[in-house]
Amino acid sequence: MALTRQAFVGTFIHSKTKAELEYAHETVLLIDENGIIAKKGPAKDLSALITSLGWDESSVNVTRSPPGGFFFPGFIDTHIHASQYPNAGIFGKSTLLAWLKKYTFPLESSLKDLARAQRVYTACVKRTLAHGTTTAAYYATIDVDATNLLAKLCFDLGQRALVGRVCMDRPDLCPDFYRDESAEEGLQNTKACIEYIQQLKGNGDDALVRPILTPRFAPSCTSDSMRGLGALAREKDLHVQTHISENKGEVELVKELFPGYEDYTDVYDQHDLLTPRTILAHGIHLSEREARAIAARQSKVAHCPCSNSSLSSGTARIRWLWRHGVDVGLGTDVSGGYSPSVLEAARQAALVSRHVCMSTEDDEDKLSVEEVLYLATRGGAQCVGLEGKVGAFEEGMAWDAQLVQFRNVPEGEEEEIGDGGNVDVFGWEDWEEKMAKWVYSGDDRNTARVWVRGRLVHSRG
Ligand code: GUN
Ligand code: FE
Repeated sequence: MALTRQAFVGTFIHSKTKAELEYAHETVLLIDENGIIAKKGPAKDLSALITSLGWDESSVNVTRSPPGGFFFPGFIDTHIHASQYPNAGIFGKSTLLAWLKKYTFPLESSLKDLARAQRVYTACVKRTLAHGTTTAAYYATIDVDATNLLAKLCFDLGQRALVGRVCMDRPDLCPDFYRDESAEEGLQNTKACIEYIQQLKGNGDDALVRPILTPRFAPSCTSDSMRGLGALAREKDLHVQTHISENKGEVELVKELFPGYEDYTDVYDQHDLLTPRTILAHGIHLSEREARAIAARQSKVAHCPCSNSSLSSGTARIRWLWRHGVDVGLGTDVSGGYSPSVLEAARQAALVSRHVCMSTEDDEDKLSVEEVLYLATRGGAQCVGLEGKVGAFEEGMAWDAQLVQFRNVPEGEEEEIGDGGNVDVFGWEDWEEKMAKWVYSGDDRNTARVWVRGRLVHSRG
């Protein structure tokens, strides 16, 4: 359905490079009826820019950023389990393998009840939109109908998404109550989800919701199932997501289960699962060889710092991955991660990088505010195959954006402090300082509005 043409006026901030944010003040972006940025220019030329596109000024809806507020690209969550949303924050002192057994498999299995799935998935999609997540790479469960329901909800609520039915068929490592009966059954069920997702109305080359092949991780999959998924990925040029090298016990287990392979990365590689469209979550304990192999295949890494600290999995070395040429995005990894907020993931990425630095004693290992915001936007876009389409404000890209707003502390005592969360802005901060305040103490109260492909999908209050 065609949208009204729109003009956004004010301050626009996005990543120019990994290390640098670009600030465009007094600027206008014109958005066409398909939600694409058609023109960018000085705000004073608004009328002339509208005319240059052959548009009628009266047909354009104008939105201005408030003083001190700004437009920022929508966040991209490259790794989130929508099915685990009710467990966010619940993990005790457990580590990965025990956590899966105790908390995760029972919850995921319970979502075969579609009413329950509807409740959980609706809450998850709405909550992530409210946090500014305009694109998410979701794991659902093994259930076909519930997975399709998640895809339909993303489509209806307007969130860009990759949605994957979880594949897990190893009888010795998956519980009887939650497992594909066979590799063949898993593959057939996966194909059913792909077919459903690809027919969602309005889908085309730039489909809002796309399928993603989702072998849970090597320890829960048979070779047959991974080989089948690898072949399908190649045949249909599909996205792939899985977990890798998250926990030392898991790495040891993969060695035992897959003797004859060089390492964890080689297991996926030999099953044709390492492609430029593959998102590997975690990658904490990778060797030099593995980082080189992942870079050579152009596969991506989803860095999930909240999860890695919560499950005491370890500290991922993002600078090290970047130096090897690996593209990295951020994942909330709900519910290994306790928060559905990509801003929280960005903050934790900055903090985890400081822990890396405390052990390497190399200051270079610290990530800056600019770098974690790059991970949350442009880095994420590379992971989900949308580089050049979302993650920044350039002509030809989609208007996937959030309006960020702070509490401006007034000069006169009798005035009220305005809305906008717990980030107090006094007016004397420069823009770099404002961004630092947002990253380190902002939350969803600062996210006033959210758009995906030009459509308003969240409005606060
Ligand atoms: N490895 C296999 N499954 C999972 C999962 O659900 N979450 C995390 N964090 N790691 C996994
Ligand atoms: Fe995960």
